[in-house]
Amino acid sequence: MANILHVDSSPRSERSRSRRLAREFMDAWLNSHPDDAVTYRDLRLTPVPHITEEWIAADFTPPEALTGDMAELLAFSDELVNEFLAADHCVFSVPMHNFGMPSNFKAYIDQVVRVGHTFLLENGQFSGLAEGKKVLLITTRGVEYGPGSPFEGWDCLEPGLRYAFRFMGVKDFQFIQATGLDLGDDAERRGLNTAQSRLRELVSSW
Ligand SMILES: Cc1cc2nc3c(=O)[nH]c(=O)nc-3n(C[C@H](O)[C@H](O)[C@H](O)COP(=O)(O)O)c2cc1C
Repeated sequence: MANILHVDSSPRSERSRSRRLAREFMDAWLNSHPDDAVTYRDLRLTPVPHITEEWIAADFTPPEALTGDMAELLAFSDELVNEFLAADHCVFSVPMHNFGMPSNFKAYIDQVVRVGHTFLLENGQFSGLAEGKKVLLITTRGVEYGPGSPFEGWDCLEPGLRYAFRFMGVKDFQFIQATGLDLGDDAERRGLNTAQSRLRELVSSW
């Protein structure tokens, strides 16, 4: 039995293609792994606050020196960190917004990348504390980014996600991209079909 963390981040609800792909994957996964336990988080319904000056000061205060107010400021972040660290597998659905991740997912990352919790800084060396996890990132995009396309080289989403999780020690990534979703019905169907068939394969190989 594995612990799965499933996080959706699209601000859209039923119209969201990234949510749909993640939901289809999770349904198929749980069909073949019925004993797995799922923690679900919807960043649309439970928005993650941006970090603040006070939050950063609390984050860099040693646990034994935290005041009650500081501990309270970090409480939601602690919850997110504990959920992430407890998961064996993580499934994140993340739409591309303005060539990178949506602001709510960036806010999530900012609350989870925590010194002493998900990474260490010792003698000038960084090391991640979230090793051994498998992370699946399902991303959706309106246009294409492949070789020769007008936006080749503009994709800041996949590198941004990869480095944030690598910094926390994650080494085992699966990236599934659904591209061209806003380029007409045919392109949308192609983009979704490609992602869906890769996700189906992953159910038996992940
Ligand atoms: C605010 C906003 C910004 C977007 N920026 C981009 C972008 O930079 N590049 C891109 O390929 N698609 C962009 N799109 C299109 C979305 O990535 C695409 O519609 C995707 O399906 C959104 O995921 P969702 O359906 O789960 O919400 C943007 C959409 C929105 C709403």
